[in-house]
Amino acid sequence: MIFPILHIPVLGDGMTIALDAVLHVLISHGLAIGAVSMVVLFQALAAAGRGAFWSDLGRSLLGPLVIATTSVGAVTGVGIWFITGALAPAGIGSLIHLFFWPWFIEWGAFTAEVVLLLFYYYLWPRLSEERPKALLALGIGYVCMAVLSGILISGILGFMLTPDGWPSGQRFVEAYFNPTFIPQCFLRIFGGLAMGALVALAWTAWTFKGADDERRRALRLCGVVAIVAAAVSGAAGVVYFQRVPQTYLTHWVFAVATSVLSQRPEVLTWLNAGAGAVLLLAALAGVAGRKTASRVLAIPALILCVGLVSEFERVREFVRGPYLLPGYMYANQIPLVQKLAAEKTGMLPELRWVREAREAAPAARSGRALFDADCGVCHSIGGVNDIRQRIAGRTLEGVNALVGITQQMVPFMTPFSGTDAERLTLATYLYALANTNSRPAPQLLLPKKPAAKPAAAAATQGGAKAKEMKQ
Ligand code: HEC
Repeated sequence: MIFPILHIPVLGDGMTIALDAVLHVLISHGLAIGAVSMVVLFQALAAAGRGAFWSDLGRSLLGPLVIATTSVGAVTGVGIWFITGALAPAGIGSLIHLFFWPWFIEWGAFTAEVVLLLFYYYLWPRLSEERPKALLALGIGYVCMAVLSGILISGILGFMLTPDGWPSGQRFVEAYFNPTFIPQCFLRIFGGLAMGALVALAWTAWTFKGADDERRRALRLCGVVAIVAAAVSGAAGVVYFQRVPQTYLTHWVFAVATSVLSQRPEVLTWLNAGAGAVLLLAALAGVAGRKTASRVLAIPALILCVGLVSEFERVREFVRGPYLLPGYMYANQIPLVQKLAAEKTGMLPELRWVREAREAAPAARSGRALFDADCGVCHSIGGVNDIRQRIAGRTLEGVNALVGITQQMVPFMTPFSGTDAERLTLATYLYALANTNSRPAPQLLLPKKPAAKPAAAAATQGGAKAKEMKQ
């Protein structure tokens, strides 16, 4: 552990990354890959002499897409780097070392994507009539770069779930071309196309001003593409989840429903089936060329797409359980080998920014540092997955025991890293935290006397207090 730890209060780290990343996935998949591909398809039909309305429709949709992808899409993409770099520097650092080249090439693909998209948009008025084939070449070039970018990232995301052969093999090829790489590429690209076709369907139903027959043809194309793409994406999803280890799959209910709903997994199945049915109905309204039905159904369908994408990303991130990188690093960024070492030599000496750490820091300070290092990535104090609620009503001995069996209690929790004395220090800190009613303020918890008390002694004191409470 080299970097000082930053955790986001109230919202929690996971939710902070998720809010940015899910927005990015929606735009990069649904708009940048999917909807722009529909625009290129429309323009291809215009270029093939199937009617000038295809060109008008495509261009009208392209404007908002250019703005959304080059502003919110690009900024949320950079945001993922920024947020993970701040919250998970060791995790993202390991990934960059392993996957420097795919990421570097992806950066090139992304740059080419933006440049081609801007040329495609700004040259459209000049080229669409005179040289439609040249314009189409720009559009196809853009789609190729967008798809390439999606493929390049899929290998890295797949690795985080199924790092087949790595780290024991330590070979880039095994790590990158892992079992979920190919199905994930299809799942993401065709899922994006299905979403993009629904966006184009909604756009056509709500904004198209041309002849009824033309609108019907456009709606039909969007509906057909949505159904075919969703079917391919769904099939890829089945293969994908078949390749995810079974132990991880048992976590998915917790991932989506949390423990509150986990006892009724059928509710989730029905909700997902219902969402799928609404998407299908919206696409079928398009296939039938119905303007009003398409208008009405496309809106809930798009909202449900947001839900389904969030669900998939949450499951993918959550189910790999205690690991950030299976077999190499725990979710709290502590490498597996370091956890073993910490049992003997302790965790506090690693946390170099805790100034007093080496000369027995005040127990509350050390406790807080241990919480940040071991648990803070998933638990907040007073916000999402509040640790105070999790341990409320327990004695100090109980908390100390719980900290020692986190993984047995909840299989996707990381084990505690540190010595037995440090475990007691953490337990004492948590116990004090759960038994103060005021909002958390670390300085409140500093011992009154700044005496350099050894952690174990402080813990014993806490233990005595716990006994008092019980009596
Ligand atoms: C990888 C994420 C993660 C890490 C790291 C983590 N937890 Fe948890 N923990 C969870 C989740 C998620 C739950 C809630 C499970 C549920 O939905 O009930 C939980 C639940 C708990 C519970 C309640 C368990 C129960 O069944 O009553 C305790 C106690 C707890 N955590 C303590 C800790 C401590 C102490 C640490 C640090 C040593 C820690 N956790 C680290 C994710 C994590």
